[in-house]
Formats: sequence, structure tokens, C-alpha cells
Amino acid sequence: MNTPALRRILLLCTGNTCRSPMAAGLLRAALRDRFGERADKVEVRTAGVSVACPGEGASSHAVQVLSERGISLAGHRARQLTPADLGWAELVLTMTRAQKAAVLRLDPLAADRAFVLREFTAPAPAAAGPDQAACYADADADVDVADPIGRGLDAYRAAARDLEKELARLVELIAGEEGSVLPAITAVGAEARARPEHTAGITQQGPAPALSLAVGADHAGYQMKHELTGIAVAMGYEVVDFGASGPASVDYPDFAAKVAATVATGRCRFGLLVCGTGIGMAIAANKIRGIRAATCNDLFLARMARKHNNANVLCIGARVIGAGLAGEVLRTFLSTPFGGERHERRVRKICDLELPPGKEPC
Ligand code: RB5
Repeated sequence: MNTPALRRILLLCTGNTCRSPMAAGLLRAALRDRFGERADKVEVRTAGVSVACPGEGASSHAVQVLSERGISLAGHRARQLTPADLGWAELVLTMTRAQKAAVLRLDPLAADRAFVLREFTAPAPAAAGPDQAACYADADADVDVADPIGRGLDAYRAAARDLEKELARLVELIAGEEGSVLPAITAVGAEARARPEHTAGITQQGPAPALSLAVGADHAGYQMKHELTGIAVAMGYEVVDFGASGPASVDYPDFAAKVAATVATGRCRFGLLVCGTGIGMAIAANKIRGIRAATCNDLFLARMARKHNNANVLCIGARVIGAGLAGEVLRTFLSTPFGGERHERRVRKICDLELPPGKEPC
């Protein structure tokens, strides 16, 4: 039996009393059927994008329909989606397109891991033949999992069957990873493959694994980079190292460019750059569209860079702070979620300042 990769999956609906608790119950059961005890490696949580009554249990029809399959929803309590949920999740699956839009309003950068369930599990159009591609286009009009709320038991049974079908595909995608330690599953999102983004003339290659870090340094920072890489790996990150790896004098913009492009194209979720001060690296990395690099030589700055600015590249000065503090700065940066709310509007304005490729500043 193969082993599923460690996963954190967040299932969302509107009120978190019908579809998402049913989906979570069905997914956990399907994972147990497929992987036995190893299913514990996949953590499944739920929330609602607009919860009317936090703490409310699952609706009685949802409870009944799942109990018909031997699944209990007794412990479920409705909860409102928070930015921290989106920071936690490697994969966010909504029941509808409207719910996905609500997710992106809360955190625009969750676009790399948020999908409508049926779009995520659908075969990719690129891999499909002409007939299948046409089917996919037709199906696009009917992507949402229908909301059974306020309707009879049969509507709940139909929603459960629909969910079972999509979740069976999801489990097969997870199974297809064969013990991988990386969340490559996000790379199979049909939507992401179908609609690539463009960043500074670079084609976005797909959504980044949530626990992935591109690292780079110059001669002043290579030793600290080495130490920080160990910390990131211990935190479960896949690390892509662009050098430098020795004391020979090099030019920091060369490394900033590689790390920034790796984050901007979606290959890695975050970047880490170490030079003497952390300043030159940040200036260079911020030239790349989609990058928000912040020089953080203390813990307060690391926390604020994530919480308020949704920074995606951390720059540290190896001639400014020691390895101990630098390690804490990295841990703080990687574990602090974006705060959303008013900060989301401000970060959106930063993004709006980026000129489209070919445009000159006036
Ligand atoms: C290299 O001597 C130094 O200028 C560089 O590491 C960095 O501090 C640039 O900002």
C-alpha cells in the first residue's frame, strides 16, 4: 500500500453546516478506505466563507445522509474562515466559484492553492483530446456543487453522491503521488494548468507547493544561508538552493533574480535571500513583478512583513544579526499568516503599482 504525502486540506462552503462538513466526512472515510492508518497523514479541516451561526452543528439532513454511510458528523461545529486557515492549508477546495472568489478577497495570494473542487479534480483540458476538451468546456457551466440547504433529504443525498464522486478523484490524485514528501498535488489543479498567469514575461508554471522555499546568498551570506536551510528543512520545507556556496566574491543581484523568479513563477511559495545587510537583495528582488521582498533583521519586522505586507521573500543581513536570531526570524516569517482585511486592500494597491510588461513609468 502506498503512503499519502503529508497534506493539509481545507474544505470550504458558505455556512459550514452542509456541504463542507459532508465533504470532510466523506473525504476522511475515503482516505481511510484507501490508505488505512496512513490516512492520518492527511489533515482535513473545514470552514465557511460566510458563517451565520458560529458553533452551530451540521444540518440534520447532512448528519442523516452521512450516518446512512456510517459516518458521524456529531462533533462538527461551524466556523468562519480566517486568514490563518488559508496560511495553514496546502490545498483549499471550495464548493462553488463564488466561495473561491471570497477566499481570494481574503488573501489574493491563496490563488496558488485555492480551487473549486470540481475544477481541481477535473481532467486537465490540455491533456484531453478534442472531444474531452469540449466536454470540459460544457461542464464549466456546471462546476458548483449544488447547495442542498432548505431542500429535502433527497437534495442532500444528491449532494453527497456528487461529493463522493469528486472526492474519489481527489483521493486518486493523492494516491498517485506514491509517498512523495512534497505537496505536488497542487500542480495537478486543472484550472491552474488551463489558465497560466504571466509574471514579468515569465510564464507561471503552476501553483507553488505551500512548503517550498527558494534560497540564495552572496559571499557575505552563504554560511548563514546554509544554516537557515537546515531550519527550513526541519520545518518540512522543500528547499531549492541557488547558491552561492563559498566565500568567492559574487554579485548579489544574480542570486536575487533567480530566487525572485522562482517565487514569481510559482515554483516556490517563499524565497530567502542572505547578503551582508539584506538590503541589496531586497532592492534587486523587488524589481521582479509579483515579488514583495522585505529586509527583516528582527522578529517584529519578520512578523509584520508577513502579517501586514504579505511579503513572499525574506531578506536577512548576515553582517547585521547572528545565526541564532536569523533562525528565529526565518521561523517567524514562515509561520506568520497574512492578516488580510484592510491589509489586503493595501497589498492589492502595491500590486497595482507594478507596470505591465512593456509599459514605461510616466
Ligand atoms: C557585499 O559586500 C555586500 O555589499 C552585499 O552582501 C550586501 O550587503 C548588499 O546589499
